Amino acid sequence: MCGIIGIASNKPVSINIINSLKKLEYRGYDSAGLATLNNSQINEKKCSGRVDELEKILFKNPSEGNIGIGHVRWATHGVPNIINAHPHSSEKVSVVHNGIIENSDELKKDLEIKGFKFKSQTDTEVITLLVTQFLEKSEPLEAVFKTLRKLKGSFALGIIFKNFSDIIVGARRGSPLAVGYSNEENYLGSDSYALKSMTNKISYLDDGELCMLTKSDIAFYDVNLKKINKKIYTVSDDENISDKGDYKNFMSKEIFEQASTIKKCLNEYTDSIKKDINIYNFPIEPKQINKIILIGCGTAYHSCLVAKYWLEELTTIDVEIDIASEFRYRNIKFNPKNLYIFVSQSGETADTAAALDICKKNKVKTCSIVNVVESTIARSSDWVLPIHAGPEIGVASTKAFLGQLIVLYILSLKLSKVRGDIDKNKYDEYLRNLHKLPESIKNTFKLENEIQLMAKEFLDANGSMFLGRGSSFPIALEGALKLKELSYLHAEGYPAGEMKHGPLALIEEGLPVIVIAPKDKYYEKTLSNTQEVIARGGKIFFITDNKKRLLSTNIRYRLRVPRIDNLLSPLLLTIPLQLLAYHVALLKDCDIDKPRNLAKSVTVE
Ligand code: F6R
Repeated sequence: MCGIIGIASNKPVSINIINSLKKLEYRGYDSAGLATLNNSQINEKKCSGRVDELEKILFKNPSEGNIGIGHVRWATHGVPNIINAHPHSSEKVSVVHNGIIENSDELKKDLEIKGFKFKSQTDTEVITLLVTQFLEKSEPLEAVFKTLRKLKGSFALGIIFKNFSDIIVGARRGSPLAVGYSNEENYLGSDSYALKSMTNKISYLDDGELCMLTKSDIAFYDVNLKKINKKIYTVSDDENISDKGDYKNFMSKEIFEQASTIKKCLNEYTDSIKKDINIYNFPIEPKQINKIILIGCGTAYHSCLVAKYWLEELTTIDVEIDIASEFRYRNIKFNPKNLYIFVSQSGETADTAAALDICKKNKVKTCSIVNVVESTIARSSDWVLPIHAGPEIGVASTKAFLGQLIVLYILSLKLSKVRGDIDKNKYDEYLRNLHKLPESIKNTFKLENEIQLMAKEFLDANGSMFLGRGSSFPIALEGALKLKELSYLHAEGYPAGEMKHGPLALIEEGLPVIVIAPKDKYYEKTLSNTQEVIARGGKIFFITDNKKRLLSTNIRYRLRVPRIDNLLSPLLLTIPLQLLAYHVALLKDCDIDKPRNLAKSVTVE
């Protein structure tokens, strides 16, 4: 999850390293550092906390040098402090690392026996000292290669060498690493986003590969250190990517962008002349699909859960859903007639990528629904359906969730048509309804003032519950996840019908309970569950699209989202929950874009 940058140039690099680290901060933000090479000296600067701190240090005491590496950290081994911050340097090399070295304890013992001294608690320092040891008898590339053979776990590395003043060596196993090309400088980065302001020409290392870059040349090597060529991609040039505009933070910008991102996605996937959905080239002939298995983590997993309801409603296909970190270790019975769909905003989530890898090894067909089309997951799957949401910078996923939902809905609808599970009139009606979404999303934003008032009621709460039935159940899970990650308030999401099987014991006088109750086939049942909570003192926040008012003094707030086709209501019902989490966090003065302990791209297990 950490972020890595490396620049080899013909001019000083420290300012561009800082600028790239600012972009990479979404990957980790508990400490930061950089190392440059100048007159055969490694000049290392580190701080705990944010890149702004590092920038202040550099302002007072600039780092010279035309070659350098930088890092933002999301702590795995060792607390976030200056000593554990990267780079980790010896008298000969300086290393930045993303990932986890699983055999670091063992390697550390061996190195200590040989007389090496460790300064930090990190697993990374074993890499620094192994490379240092191998440099006694080897050139830099070979020393790194020998080091890699000792390492177990996942990593992306950037390394500079005191006595080789013009090279950076990069290597990858498990964690992503991109290489960027420009006229007078070359780059190494955890992702193309960090490099976009400097270049749009990118290559990606595959597992086990290494690269060596200078300001004028980039060479790639395979797992056996044989020179290879890599494809160069031209990455898309997204507008307004790092600009918050008039918004206080990226999250609010991203919430309010949702009407336009959904519109963009609809334009990409629907053909208004043919009145059809532009999805073709299914990796399995749709009528032959036996089962669909949807896999993701966190918010992406919630979108899989919603899609299960849609696929079951619209098609005759059997559907399963799985959390990637569970899927990858289970004894799955793979079937070539099944389609395995991976949902991921970043396309880099380690567990999701590993689950996809297992599918590939078992020779089954895979599809990925991603926001980053150049990502590892997209590049590894048989079929890619982009969500076209544009870069999402706020750590808590908002517009990407709605983007994932809309693509999953469009896919379900198209499958139902091509399999003959739906008649033409119904299909046309569903398609027409889809185009009402952007306007309905805009109208849902009008609830913000009420939600702001509602948020105050959460300030003294000790916890909260989110309840829903049917496709509102995953929306309840998503609402609870948003509230806990942003405001650090405990929140439980539950199927409303499960309350009586245990969680009802948590209800006490004044506990905020958010009930998500669109006017669908579950509505009356959800009302009964709501009454059970009211009877036990729960303070209800009722979110519905039903015009009819409920009468009860315990209904503290009632929010009404616009009425839309029932299948699409999960998209609208999500928005008040995003805004609620946002406003509670704002009132509590939490760091909205960078909640504590989290990172945007989870590239460790
Ligand atoms: C929550 C959130 C996370 C991600 C999860 C998967 O707001 O953003 O739960 O959804 O880490 O990430 P991706 O979608 O990049 O695979």
